[in-house]
Amino acid sequence: MKQLPALSVFIALFCAVLPAPTFAADTDPRQFVEMAPEARATLRAEMLDNQLALHQIIGALAEGKYAEAAAIAEKELGIGAMGKHRKLPSNARPGMYMTDEMHAIGRASHVAASDFAKVATAGNPATALNALQGITGTCVACHRSYRTQ
Ligand code: HEC
Repeated sequence: MKQLPALSVFIALFCAVLPAPTFAADTDPRQFVEMAPEARATLRAEMLDNQLALHQIIGALAEGKYAEAAAIAEKELGIGAMGKHRKLPSNARPGMYMTDEMHAIGRASHVAASDFAKVATAGNPATALNALQGITGTCVACHRSYRTQ
């Protein structure tokens, strides 16, 4: 038992001298997906809208407004929000540059948002939060797997 604190101190010191994780392009473990600048601009604008929608959903949940949270999720992130960029020229459509797997995560994200919308209307905080994490899980999955720069 007495050795445990010493071991913890050793581990803490060892970790302190380790270099911080870096995300330099040559060591970044995420797959690089090259996109035309126009497609990246479309993607980034959509992402900022995604973040805003998520923020609004959490706000609505915090106020107990489950129907509102569901409506935002369905409209902004749900299956109905898929294919928004269909009419853009192909170099401005992020989907044109995505791998199948990346596409699949994108679709899963829309499905998760529609699932959340269905669950949230029941007004149960625990199941609503659980379904919300289904959405954020897809944000995390894509961001941790792919990069565009
Ligand atoms: C299918 C993949 C994918 C999914 C799913 C995804 N993202 Fe992204 N996101 C990206 C990529 C790729 C970038 C980097 C874009 C760039 O800079 O070229 C990005 C960038 C962003 C940015 C930074 C935008 C900027 O440039 O300022 C935000 C914020 C963001 N995502 C939020 C979200 C949120 C919130 C979700 C979930 C609701 C989400 N994303 C789901 C792929 C994804």
